[in-house]
Amino acid sequence: MSLGLSDHKKDDRQERLLAIRKALGPRSVVLIGLMGAGKTAVGRRLANRLDLPFIDADSEIEEAAGASISEIFAEHGEAYFRQGERKVIARLLENGPQVLATGGGAYMNPDTRANIKAHGLSVWLKADIKVLMKRVGRRDNRPLLAAGDPEKVMKKLMEERYPIYAEADLTVDSRDIAHTSIVNTIIRALARWSGWERLNNERH
Ligand code: S3P
Repeated sequence: MSLGLSDHKKDDRQERLLAIRKALGPRSVVLIGLMGAGKTAVGRRLANRLDLPFIDADSEIEEAAGASISEIFAEHGEAYFRQGERKVIARLLENGPQVLATGGGAYMNPDTRANIKAHGLSVWLKADIKVLMKRVGRRDNRPLLAAGDPEKVMKKLMEERYPIYAEADLTVDSRDIAHTSIVNTIIRALARWSGWERLNNERH
């Protein structure tokens, strides 16, 4: 069952947003994908359009730790960061409805994946290497990329993670276009999604 809306009429737009919100109930729209896929920038705009709060898991982890992600990695190591990430995301998922952007490694944790499935609807922002490298090149706040040749690291992460990211409820291409266009694509995909009934029957 999709939400039964046509996606070409202008008048449908508001109706479509309301239908998505209603179908979502207390769940979160959870954005997953690699560093540079645009989870935060797209998530913020998506939340705005759906009139939902936007939460960035990485910022929440930094706030809980009183330190930046780079500092957490440097002082305590990646395993410690992952533990905190799992706990913080489990807590955040209790607060839906909302749009929740997660760090690139979060969905790789089986507990976090199960939690997202139970409390949310996952959207993979899938991008190719060119787009990812262009976007991450703008900042140097990602310890994993600082550990070696960033493009090699990114390619390895794509190999490891893309088969798991593919478990997401929806996949949307994150191309090098305006973020609002990606938001429109997500909204159309949500309106057409055939899994709403299953979501309501099987999940919280
Ligand atoms: C990571 C991605 C980062 C951050 C941390 C680790 C990863 O988040 O959580 O540096 O493992 O891919 P973004 O995906 O928001 O950059």
